[in-house]
Amino acid sequence: MPDANSQNGRQEQKIYKLVDDQGKVVAELPLLHPTLGFDVVDTRKLFQTANITTFDPSYGSTASCRSSISYVDGDNGVLLYRGYPIEELAEKSTFLEVAYLLLFGELPTQSELDKFVHEITMHTMVHEQIANFFSGFRRDAHPMAILLGVVGALSAFYPDSIDVHDPQQRLISIYRLIAKMPTISAMAHKYSLGQPFIYPRNNLEYSANFLHMMFAVPAEEYKVNPIFAKAMNTLFIVQADHEQNASTSTVRGVGSSHANPFASIAAGIASLWGPLHGGANEAVLRMLLDIGTKDRIPEVIARAKDKNDPFRLFGFGHRVYKNYDPRARVMKRVYEEVLSELGVSNDPLFDLARELEKVALNDEYFISHKLYPNVDFYSGVIMRALGIPMTMFTAIFAIARTPGWLAQWKEMIEDPDQRIARPRQLYTGAPRRSYVDVKHRVSQNGAAAGKQIKAEVHET
Ligand code: ACO
Repeated sequence: MPDANSQNGRQEQKIYKLVDDQGKVVAELPLLHPTLGFDVVDTRKLFQTANITTFDPSYGSTASCRSSISYVDGDNGVLLYRGYPIEELAEKSTFLEVAYLLLFGELPTQSELDKFVHEITMHTMVHEQIANFFSGFRRDAHPMAILLGVVGALSAFYPDSIDVHDPQQRLISIYRLIAKMPTISAMAHKYSLGQPFIYPRNNLEYSANFLHMMFAVPAEEYKVNPIFAKAMNTLFIVQADHEQNASTSTVRGVGSSHANPFASIAAGIASLWGPLHGGANEAVLRMLLDIGTKDRIPEVIARAKDKNDPFRLFGFGHRVYKNYDPRARVMKRVYEEVLSELGVSNDPLFDLARELEKVALNDEYFISHKLYPNVDFYSGVIMRALGIPMTMFTAIFAIARTPGWLAQWKEMIEDPDQRIARPRQLYTGAPRRSYVDVKHRVSQNGAAAGKQIKAEVHET
């Protein structure tokens, strides 16, 4: 096996030379070879040696860190966690086993797994005082707004575990975050319904416990459906990590200043919320409900292709996948299992999703742009079938992504080369100039300066 843990990736003495238009070598840049994927030009010394920086605003051509956690082969639709294909893990593993794998690099033995599960299970409850936060929110508050607020606030409850330099404290924070994310998310759901919070049940496994906290009420006996718990387990697994995506990069960026892990994960939650990222699952369902019937598909496809229309087909496209997202394939299978358990032979919304996928995959625009369904295309319809309201979809994604965020955060803190994330910029503003007294200023802003921005205030 290649040395996946080597500090720089496999390194040969191959050098890229940056040559200016006069043929002068401006910089010599070593070429790094990952264990999988494309070679990487090491530009770390570029500024020091040549006073030149690189320009890559959305990091499309930039490796922002070394990582040995997950790997995406976008051309071939492959996703690996620590080398294991997502399809195998989704079929055979449990979410906490996958969390262990992401965090510690290897699948656990039975005793390692038992210990890990015990540690997580022993931290599922939240401080009673945390319940008070919820009453400060409106009942219709979006669960993601609550989640990011409450997770950030956890740092105030666990000052004993926010020293990022102490490996033991890092570990306990990791246990706490993985354990409490389902509890806080389910509390957000219960709050919106006006139902009492349901305490975690430590005799239930992770996914079943989450469903219990979501759907049980104190007045009734609630039995978790094992097929639904299995579906939730798979949903959690496929969303657990995904290289240096927007929210993971956010967690690393915030964590790089040595902010505490609760603050770093709250930042990841905020980033995940956007409809271009984890918020797409909610956006997909809203889009499908809005489309309503198959006869409206051509109209929607036309809008998605129209450059003058900001509308995009949610659940389609990906920065890295230029092929079918393997997670979407797993999701489709899980959905069929859930439908069969529900005894439903025909779900109009799933049919609509499948037809939309079929039309898009045969459309020249989607073919030439290599736009395929991503994980969010089917995850929403599954969660809906499980009885989960739309506004909870992204919160559930956040629960799933927490072990990945934490594994990446841990890897970053433990990297001896770690420094604060501090990109350079391509400055396009005014050059240095002198202050002019207000009486002598001539407007330089033209029409823009004359426009008054009208703030609309809604108070209810
Ligand atoms: N519908 C229509 N056109 C699209 C779509 C889409 N869903 N996605 C990309 N395109 C087009 C763009 O208009 C652009 O076309 P052009 O080259 O002719 O101008 C081209 O494909 C490339 O798109 P970019 O926006 O440059 O690709 P980028 O890698 O920056 O964006 C993203 C990726 C954000 C996922 C994008 O595909 C998108 O907005 N998808 C819809 C939202 C979505 O499903 N997000 C979930 C992603 S998965 C996840 O985060 C869990």
